[in-house]
Amino acid sequence: MKKILVGNWKNYPETLKETKYILNKLSRYKLKLKKVATYIAPPNVYLETVKDKSKSFASLSTQDITLAPEGTHTGEITPEMLKSLGVKMAILGHSERRKLGETNKNVSEKVRTAIVFGITPVVCVGEDVHDQDGNYFEFISEQIRESLVGVKKSDAKKIIIAYEPVWAIGKNATGVMEGKELSQMVIFIKKVLTEIFDRKSADSIKILYGGSVDDENALSLVDDGGVDGFLVGRASLDARKFVGIAEALK
Ligand code: PGA
Repeated sequence: MKKILVGNWKNYPETLKETKYILNKLSRYKLKLKKVATYIAPPNVYLETVKDKSKSFASLSTQDITLAPEGTHTGEITPEMLKSLGVKMAILGHSERRKLGETNKNVSEKVRTAIVFGITPVVCVGEDVHDQDGNYFEFISEQIRESLVGVKKSDAKKIIIAYEPVWAIGKNATGVMEGKELSQMVIFIKKVLTEIFDRKSADSIKILYGGSVDDENALSLVDDGGVDGFLVGRASLDARKFVGIAEALK
């Protein structure tokens, strides 16, 4: 089974020109990127360009899906549209969206919608603070349970969990995740998933890690952390770093 590498471009690059530039650079490393299951999640306006320029080495992901009820909704993009463009995956419940008010309930609705459309939901969970008493384990448990409400056991294998501790994300990260510590969280997440579904289903769910992953820490995070891949922000916009992470995963 190939490991999974998802590049979350967030609201970058700022221009279409830069987008093409990065894609051209990435395509030079396509043989390396093909050794893992690579996904690129660009801003939706670039989906078509990314699709054209990366089809030989990556699949398409989005950073969210909208839950517009049937009818006319100015400004909305529907899951149907994303599907028709060839989107295979959706990052859901990213902490930056949760900060804008997205709740576990919203995330669970999106997860179920993605499954209906045959889009793989990457369900992001992660604590804001890594307290010494370990209260964050309870927080993660609740986030997972509530974000997966209504997901059938038979659909469990279709979802991916991304553990992204908020304190380790982005350039303002206040700490560094170590592989050993990550492995404890992976075991804990598996336990929670086993309680929600069952052992077999839990074993079929892939767990990714995200939060300041780069080409230097990727190897120890995957080897010691026991994850199935990474969700990468900043380093996914730097072709060399992104490929370095792919190499650590293969
Ligand atoms: P980062 O972002 O890799 O820049 O820390 C990760 C994420 O937010 O998904």
